[in-house]
Amino acid sequence: MEKTIDQIRDDALSEIEAAATPDDINALSVRYLGRKGAITRYLRNISGLPADQRPEAGQKANQTKKLLEGLFDERLEALAGRTDSDSRIDVSLPGRAQAPGMLHPVTRISREICEIFAGLGFDIAEGPEVELDFYNFEALNIPKNHPARDMQDTFYVSDNIVLRTHTSPIQIRTMEKQKPPVRVVAPGKVYRCDSDLTHTPMFHQIEGLLVDKNISFGDLKGILTTVVHRIFDEKTSLRFRPSFFPFTEPSAEVDILCVICRGKGCRVCSHTGWLEILGSGMVDPAVFDNVEYDKDKYTGFAFGMGMERIAMLKYGIDDIRKFFENDYRFLRQF
Ligand code: DAH
Repeated sequence: MEKTIDQIRDDALSEIEAAATPDDINALSVRYLGRKGAITRYLRNISGLPADQRPEAGQKANQTKKLLEGLFDERLEALAGRTDSDSRIDVSLPGRAQAPGMLHPVTRISREICEIFAGLGFDIAEGPEVELDFYNFEALNIPKNHPARDMQDTFYVSDNIVLRTHTSPIQIRTMEKQKPPVRVVAPGKVYRCDSDLTHTPMFHQIEGLLVDKNISFGDLKGILTTVVHRIFDEKTSLRFRPSFFPFTEPSAEVDILCVICRGKGCRVCSHTGWLEILGSGMVDPAVFDNVEYDKDKYTGFAFGMGMERIAMLKYGIDDIRKFFENDYRFLRQF
């Protein structure tokens, strides 16, 4: 005697329950729903039933068919990845690659510049980011209440403690610790109460200081020209423009020929053909007095440059804030 649709369904349910692999399910699916499958055969035989039983039998058979289709799909998904040997790991698949970390563009530039200076005989120095007013200003010939303080928008922690506004205090800390000759560069974070397209409240500078007998402005020009040529390329012209800093005399700002338009004038250089990249000068004798260096015996030069600025020019980045948004799509390009 042919099985009833209820029997077929109950058999199918217990077999599905017992199936352990996708292959088992596929075989069951053929046996029940395939061309010669139990349900298919049942449906075909309905025409042989008495007319009054056909509608109900057809409806039930179709419901069962739907139920089994759904269960097969569900079980297949649940068992996906299992093979006959019940191993869930396909050892033939390639492994999932770990995204390697990379250096932040500012870190890269900082290391590159430090390496260039190390090659020229400079040591690397560091100093605190929370700094005494004395080192950040006073010892650098910027007295309290002097208009020269307006040059830098300072975050004050208290009357005498500030977030350093530049890396220049490391000059003082270095000279306090060591007698000439001095050759140091000092990279680090600095802070100013300032924020727009070209300013962030925290940014990076690298400071330089060289003190010895007979150091002249020619040495300053020679060293900075060499370094700029190594950072960019030999074709990069430099321009030393008179300026003012309280801790150097004479002082100069250094411009490079615009790396974008090579001097023709463009948006990046505000159509001047030149880009300012650093401040520099001969150490002011008043600074030597503050660290008890003999100003009659020694001379020196100092400079400070913004690292984001260098990175922006080198990599063609137009908004300084991109460095600090931590957008992986931006950072991974370097
Ligand atoms: N500290 C200056 C600033 O942040 C930059 C600077 C200028 C540093 C001249 C120096 C220097 O050492 O000699 O604007």
